[in-house]
Amino acid sequence: MDENKKIEQRNTFLRDNNGKEMSSNEGVKISDDSNSLKAGDRGPTLLEDFLMREKLSHFDRERIPERVVHARGYGAYGEFELYESLEELTMAHFLQNPGVKTPLFVRFSEVAGSKGVNETNRDVRGFAVKFYTEEGNFDLVGNNIPVFFIQDGVKFPDLIHAVKPEPNNEIPQGSTAHDTFWDFIANNQESAAMVMWIMSDRTIPRSFRMMQGFGVHTFRLVNNEGKSRFVKFHWRPVLGMHSFVWDEAQKLGGADPDFHRRDLWENINAGNFAEFELGIQVLEEADEFKFAFDILDATKLWPEEDIPVRIIGKMTINRNVENVFAETEQVAFHPGNIVRGIDFSNDPLLQGRLFSYTDTQLARVGTNYQELPINRPICPVHNNQRDGASRYTIDQGRVAYHENSLANNSPHTVPGTKGGFVTYPSPVQGLKERKTAPSFLDHFSQARLFWNSMSGLERSHIIQALTFELGKVKDVSIRQQVVNMLGHISTELATILAVELGVNVPNVPESPVTKSSPALSMANTVFSPKTLR
Ligand code: HEM
Repeated sequence: MDENKKIEQRNTFLRDNNGKEMSSNEGVKISDDSNSLKAGDRGPTLLEDFLMREKLSHFDRERIPERVVHARGYGAYGEFELYESLEELTMAHFLQNPGVKTPLFVRFSEVAGSKGVNETNRDVRGFAVKFYTEEGNFDLVGNNIPVFFIQDGVKFPDLIHAVKPEPNNEIPQGSTAHDTFWDFIANNQESAAMVMWIMSDRTIPRSFRMMQGFGVHTFRLVNNEGKSRFVKFHWRPVLGMHSFVWDEAQKLGGADPDFHRRDLWENINAGNFAEFELGIQVLEEADEFKFAFDILDATKLWPEEDIPVRIIGKMTINRNVENVFAETEQVAFHPGNIVRGIDFSNDPLLQGRLFSYTDTQLARVGTNYQELPINRPICPVHNNQRDGASRYTIDQGRVAYHENSLANNSPHTVPGTKGGFVTYPSPVQGLKERKTAPSFLDHFSQARLFWNSMSGLERSHIIQALTFELGKVKDVSIRQQVVNMLGHISTELATILAVELGVNVPNVPESPVTKSSPALSMANTVFSPKTLR
């Protein structure tokens, strides 16, 4: 398998209009595309002008809604090469044979801003990869930060409503420097660790080619014997991780709001391909409860010293798109796109995502979005789904139902032999009720570890970022609440900010962090230069 399969598939959809005679979409040759049909030299345009009507009507519908989040993004093609077989861990077809190359598409994005926002703004960057494997599409839809703001998918609309510009005045565009964002943070303190990450230089990356990526959630790998292990995914840039300093990002963005897409486009065209190694952290099921945090909690990362990152392959991003709308705008990533050998955990944030992506793409792109060239798998697709707006496939025959004896089609029910997907049969227990698990209630220890692991310079950047962002918050009570919250992370940090922001020094205890906490060693490991490479 190699990248060619996706290229060959895509080539069947290409249309070269260069130097060709024009026609309408109905195939009628156009003799004049510059003058509408008028009654007399200076007369009104006639309704009869079907060529102008078609041209304008199509133009009127050229835009689809921008993504509700991650609207600003840029994509390119590439391939993933496996270094070593993962047969002992997973039956995923593309992870069996070393040297095998799997075609893929990547989209890097900004979360908060609209489609036209400045690309060097402080923001989390999306890092979404679609692997076109021989057994279906596998999407790793991650971010450049290993943890997230919230623990439960039901809060996501609230988070995003708070992050987006305030609805009464659409201010500010793509920035966290406003009251509603910090009001949300102060009232949803599970966001503490993520707040420290986003106020660090990680959210002003130097280049898409120089960012780490993280799957964030706990997933499962399942092997041929049906044994499951927990896994987290990591991307590491071969160029190393680099960030701007805030002042640099501000000036560059002012001079060139398209800085990041230009950097990616030009470097790919120049042959400076972006390379990222894929790593996995693997946890035995028996060790699920061994840690001071819950592995289902997406606001926590796993200690790398205890659960080392094993590098398993490399992604090379090497080909720009032909057409940004057709490919990058219409691509539909979904963390629920998994293949045989990979499965979900019960992480309640992941569970929310599993509903949301298909739902939004049906609205954003349309019923048959999976038929679009960019979203099509490279393996055959056969089922009894039919029709819908803009259906492209012409399904033959009279049978569109299962089970049947007329068409003799059947599902692949035997895992491992015919390759059918089977959900890992994990046990469930407990009461059906709405509540936060007690194991999800520690909000501050990893935030504090993050702060403790920072160098003096990194701390000064975090303080500057918090001073700037919170300095834009008009409501003093919100400033005070956030500074109080930060007091649980570091008294020193909260004291400096209280002075800078003109609020009271909080009198709250710092979160306890014991030396024996596995998370402590992890925080140091994550930020050591060695592991960032
Ligand atoms: C995009 C929902 C959490 C990463 C999106 C989109 C939605 C969404 C509706 C737009 C998709 C489209 O229009 O094609 C949610 C919900 C979440 C959640 C409901 C929580 C329950 C996360 C998390 C991550 C993430 C935790 C990172 C680990 C992304 C990325 C994109 C995206 C990278 C952009 C994909 C692209 O480039 O097209 N999300 N999201 N999201 N989300 Fe999430």
